[in-house]
Amino acid sequence: MKIAIIGAGNIGTALAEGFSAIEKKENIILTRRNIQHLDEYRSKGFQSTDSNKDAIKNADLVLLAVLPQQINEVLKEMAPVVDTKKSTMISCVAGITIQNIKDVLGKDTRVVRAMPNTALSLQQSMTCIAFGDKTTELPDEHKKFILELFNQVGTTLVIKEEMMTAATALCACGIAFFMRAIRSASQGGIEMGFHADEALQLAVQTAKGAALLLQKEEAHPEKEIDRVTSPKGCTIAGLNEMEHNGYSSAMIKGLLTSFNKANELYKN
Ligand SMILES: NC(=O)c1ccc[n+]([C@@H]2O[C@H](COP(=O)([O-])OP(=O)(O)OC[C@H]3O[C@@H](n4cnc5c(N)ncnc54)[C@H](OP(=O)(O)O)[C@@H]3O)[C@@H](O)[C@H]2O)c1
Repeated sequence: MKIAIIGAGNIGTALAEGFSAIEKKENIILTRRNIQHLDEYRSKGFQSTDSNKDAIKNADLVLLAVLPQQINEVLKEMAPVVDTKKSTMISCVAGITIQNIKDVLGKDTRVVRAMPNTALSLQQSMTCIAFGDKTTELPDEHKKFILELFNQVGTTLVIKEEMMTAATALCACGIAFFMRAIRSASQGGIEMGFHADEALQLAVQTAKGAALLLQKEEAHPEKEIDRVTSPKGCTIAGLNEMEHNGYSSAMIKGLLTSFNKANELYKN
């Protein structure tokens, strides 16, 4: 498979590294306008160019990883040369729909949406994937290969396209939300007397432990909370104080704000 990655920034280069576990680096071509930033990847064996048109020639998969405000220009540039019979588009761009891409590249274009998060650099991404619409759905073997590619960088879940914006808020933006939760825990730790580095280490490992309890034991969060909240104890006192201050509500409202904003990214 020849793979072109259009817009090799944070997400594009991390995906390239992950994909290289199952596809030869020489078959992966990276593009960006400031091509000097891709020297490191060229020396590792990837191909690179500042011409999107050249990159998509004969590509089986074209991965779109530019910013939402850059995608229209890129699609218009590709439209006259893209071979929609050969190339399948995989868009990681938040807020742009399959229909938006077809509107520029043509109604027969096969388009897949994928929403990874930045943990893909550690092969720990939660990536949601939507496989086209009914008119241009991919053959099963292509779906299998695309899933295999994204499984190199973490876990995948196939969802309907209408859930993609929710996936963007929960998984892509979610990295920042959980980072802030860990950061605020570490700030509390500092106020109680730990040095900043110790407080962060304690908060990170505790958050990791909580996530693994849910993932490995398939437990429910409330069941795990019940196990650490003894009657009249300090955990329930702290937890209730957080809830009185809107902890869960703030997270839910933040997610919904990101969801609404993600719906508007392409329009702006
Ligand atoms: N960051 C996240 O957590 C995350 C998660 C999931 C999905 N996404 C989506 O992934 C996409 C990329 O995000 P990112 O964080 O990787 O952004 P980024 O680091 O800014 O990468 C975008 C890249 O596109 C290149 N580019 C811009 N215009 C171009 C053009 N005309 N032709 C070719 N390359 C061009 C830029 O390089 P030059 O300026 O050198 O051209 C830049 O390296 C976004 O659409 C975002 O919605 C991001």
